[in-house]
Amino acid sequence: MSQHIYLPDHTGSIGVFDSGIGGLSVANAVSGLLPAESLLYVSDNAHAPYGARTDDEVRAYSRRLTEFLLRAGAKLIVVACNTATSVAIDDLRETFPAVPFVGLEPAVKPAARSRSVAVLATAVTLRSTRYRTLRETYLADRPVWESACPGLVDLIETHPSGSPVIREYLTELFATTDQPDAVVLGCTHYPLIASDITAVLGPDVRVIDPSGAAARQVQRLLEERGLTENRDVRTIYDFYCTGGSAPLQRTLLALTALNSHRRWVVPYLPLN
Ligand code: DGL
Repeated sequence: MSQHIYLPDHTGSIGVFDSGIGGLSVANAVSGLLPAESLLYVSDNAHAPYGARTDDEVRAYSRRLTEFLLRAGAKLIVVACNTATSVAIDDLRETFPAVPFVGLEPAVKPAARSRSVAVLATAVTLRSTRYRTLRETYLADRPVWESACPGLVDLIETHPSGSPVIREYLTELFATTDQPDAVVLGCTHYPLIASDITAVLGPDVRVIDPSGAAARQVQRLLEERGLTENRDVRTIYDFYCTGGSAPLQRTLLALTALNSHRRWVVPYLPLN
């Protein structure tokens, strides 16, 4: 089937991509802050998890997703994936210099107030120069425990928050370290299970989710460039997946702000 059949007209929308449903945590924050903006979301779940990919693969996928979103008319791209941001956002900014990009990075700066910090992110993010530099800048003087959480992204794609399998995974994970004061959610899938992390670690541990800050950055960039939506048009959210759509469908039901404007959820977008 030829690709143009799948190309929606999203002139003036905000484009958002991730390897899966994780970016919905960011899209949800953008939707809450900027309810007049339309969104075009792509989950590249045919190639997930990105954390198990090479840097070159993640860069190639990111470029392809960006091209799709721009062809559809997106005015700003949210790289709603820490993994893609850590190894691909410089390449994207260089390749598409006129396009405003907002990336997601582990929020280590707000964690600098805490005594001991756990950073949960993918292996690609944890080994990236961008993350190592952030850690060196803000957390050099305190204990930082890092985990690449193998298999957790797949669990979140297939099980909702509150599932015993997710609670068991987290219980076993945190049993291998001392209780941290703060947990940095360095992968956009993890805010979707923030309540499970709190249930396992207790309410005194700070769980740091960067989605709100990313949404504010989207707002700032739109305002700076005069791109804010101010026409009286219907807000539309469309969701595309390069694989099956079950994880997206399931997660959207729990995210009311996104779900209320959803138009299409389209599976098997052929981006190859
Ligand atoms: N949600 C992604 C991130 O923020 C990627 C997870 C993955 O595909 O490994 O890093």
